[in-house]
Amino acid sequence: MHHFQYAGQNLRCESVDLAEVARLYGTPTYVYSAATIEDNYTRIAASMKGLDVRVCFAVKANANLAVLRHLGNLGSSFDFASAGEMRRVVAAGASVKGSVFAGVGKTETEIRLALEAGIFSFHVESEPELARINHVAGKLGVKAPIAIRVNPDVDAHTHAKIRTGTSADKFGIPLGKAAAAYEAASKYPNITIRGVQSHIGSQITQVTPFVETLEKLAPLAADLKRKYGITYISIGGGIGVVYKEALASGPFSWWETMPEAKRPLTPEAYGAALAPALKQLGLKVLLEPGRSMVANAGVLLSRVEYLKRGEGKNFLILDAAMNDLVRPAMYDSYHEIVPLRRDTTRPALVADVVGPICESTDCFARDRQIQEVGEGEYLALMSAGAYGHVMASRYNARPIPAEVLVKGSAFELVTARETFEQLVANERVPSFLK
Ligand code: LLP
Repeated sequence: MHHFQYAGQNLRCESVDLAEVARLYGTPTYVYSAATIEDNYTRIAASMKGLDVRVCFAVKANANLAVLRHLGNLGSSFDFASAGEMRRVVAAGASVKGSVFAGVGKTETEIRLALEAGIFSFHVESEPELARINHVAGKLGVKAPIAIRVNPDVDAHTHAKIRTGTSADKFGIPLGKAAAAYEAASKYPNITIRGVQSHIGSQITQVTPFVETLEKLAPLAADLKRKYGITYISIGGGIGVVYKEALASGPFSWWETMPEAKRPLTPEAYGAALAPALKQLGLKVLLEPGRSMVANAGVLLSRVEYLKRGEGKNFLILDAAMNDLVRPAMYDSYHEIVPLRRDTTRPALVADVVGPICESTDCFARDRQIQEVGEGEYLALMSAGAYGHVMASRYNARPIPAEVLVKGSAFELVTARETFEQLVANERVPSFLK
């Protein structure tokens, strides 16, 4: 359930009129709902009854300091893909003690920073990384806690660009080589074996790939518990969300009335399917959700610049572009697009909804039916809270967009829009050109 709804004609986030936010802070601006994040967190944390579950929010999905602090306050730990993400959590005033650090290319500096911060565990993705962690821990005179990320060779049936768990992907150590890697880890003097991990991909809408992964992992996990006394298993993130018609039917989406077996994956169905096998292992369970915690909690507000009527095609040209939200250009992803002021008396318009960037891939939607809107009116691109702002770039010398957090009737700017001076602040014309 999310907290974006029309009150009369006006689209609101919780009790806040989004057009007011757009007028006050300009566009493009991301707006997040604290209540939606809390609902998502609570649902996933409660999805495996009777198990000792720790949620480690995947910071890569939304690294805004206010969002991280909100999640930290709710009790979340974190999953980092870089030391930068870890430092964001620290900067947000949240704890990193229960958190984990994944990624295939951890540098010596990153490993040192994470050890000094006292994170819960490294998720190790290769044998050479194990040696490096041992080396850095030795220099600091500490023992590094680790789990090996096991690549189970399971196809997550998702977009090829966000699949991570097959042997063709760069992630983890293959299941067949995992026992030997743990054996090697046990011989390193500065390593403590703490758990086992797997993450097979993102936007996974059926439970089967997760079940298959756990079936493959469980015998190894039981073995590791006996041999090395591991205390936890992390089953990664990846729970998909519904992007189509997320708003249209109100807080409950169209699919929530579908028969259970046909519905896209929910946190509850995910928990129910995996809990029995996890219970048998008797290990603490770490979850690393990113998208399912924040996607439907965020929208991108944009202003219509022009409605251009072409030959057999209309173009609705927005002030937001692929640099602000790259997912449609990069993964052909679908985002619902709705007006901030709904007017059912207006005719429908079929248009390509595009940004101002000078390339054809700067397109949010093709031949989309939408209420006719004109210059100066606002739209919201829905379900943009995950992998939205974090993937923004400065292409075409466009500034990184602003972010606003809403809680009830309160809202605040939590990231100011980048200025032109900030955009060029690190650049210099060299003396030999002057
Ligand atoms: N854990 C690890 C080790 C991961 O690599 C990821 C995501 C997650 C957890 C969180 O997965 P989630 O629950 O969000 O599916 N930029 C792409 C998504 C990339 C996901 C990368 N890894 C997109 O916009 O669709």
